[in-house]
Amino acid sequence: MTKFQERVFSGVQPTGTLHLGNYLGAIKNFVELQNKYNCVYCVVDQHAITVDQDPKELRSNILEVLASFIAAGVDYKKQIIFQQSSVPAHSQLAWVFNCVSRIGWLNRMTQFKDKAGKNKENVSVGLMVYPNLMAADILAYLATHVPVGDDQKQHLELTRDLAIRFNNTYGDTFIVPKAYQPKTGAKIKSLSDPTKKMDKSSENQKSYILLLDDLNQVKNKIKSAVTDSEAKIYYDVENKPGISNLLTIDAALLKTTIEERVSHYKDMSYQDFKLCVADHIVAALKPIQEKYHALIKDPSLDAILDTGRDQAKMIAH
Ligand code: AMP
Ligand code: TRP
Repeated sequence: MTKFQERVFSGVQPTGTLHLGNYLGAIKNFVELQNKYNCVYCVVDQHAITVDQDPKELRSNILEVLASFIAAGVDYKKQIIFQQSSVPAHSQLAWVFNCVSRIGWLNRMTQFKDKAGKNKENVSVGLMVYPNLMAADILAYLATHVPVGDDQKQHLELTRDLAIRFNNTYGDTFIVPKAYQPKTGAKIKSLSDPTKKMDKSSENQKSYILLLDDLNQVKNKIKSAVTDSEAKIYYDVENKPGISNLLTIDAALLKTTIEERVSHYKDMSYQDFKLCVADHIVAALKPIQEKYHALIKDPSLDAILDTGRDQAKMIAH
């Protein structure tokens, strides 16, 4: 296959303001990939309704994700950005995949197990078949590369299994896609418990940095990030998860390696190290926030989604 035919697809749920993990694990890579590939980026509102949503809030969150994509650098004039529910092919193909997928496959999904917890009998059917819809999103566009953070790798494996099973049963139809993961940043950890991933559903607001957080608050959150008592800066995820997470964030933001960052910081105090990391985060977020606040007031945002829908429909159909 030539480069020309290769296509990138990814999706983000409109479930509240995006955080630094979403940015480093996914959206920053959306921007980098658009120089090499044709890209399709989707605001996946049908995934969001697998749990209850307030309709008004959901509508404003859809525009918030769209504005965040553009503010972070996705070029809506060259790439396709659209809302999942505006293209019926996603639900249509998802039904086909509901019939190809196996209950055992879905039961093994760690995200489903985490979200359902002990309440497995009482969660929506949508939450369980969510990976089939995600597979439909990707395979309807014959996407070759899917930029996602670590937590979506298992869903992408299931997508590949579905494509292979369908192709084997009914003939060669779908392209088997690959995950595209950044060298650093695919799993940004919580600032308050760096053994867990950064997640906006955490109750502790100090555990995550939102793309739209007040910049002084960002500095305070980094200052209070949990570290260790050794007072020596090096990378060791097992024994120094907090310091390792800050090194990862820094390397991802500066597009360099963790080794390079370690040699830069190795003689610094934790306090000075944290100040440097905070400055780098603020430098990355400031222009995004400025663009975002100008965009979110712009009434033409809806028209961007309309154009995206028309372009996406033509491919998916
Ligand atoms: P979501 O908000 O769940 O729709 O996630 C959007 C994208 O951000 C997906 O590609 C996720 O894999 C990615 N992502 C979410 N949390 C993190 C994290 N803590 N570190 C890196 N990537 C993440
Ligand atoms: N499941 C992804 C998440 O929660 C979002 C998503 C839906 C997605 N469809 C997709 C990501 C297709 C990549 C490709 O983050």
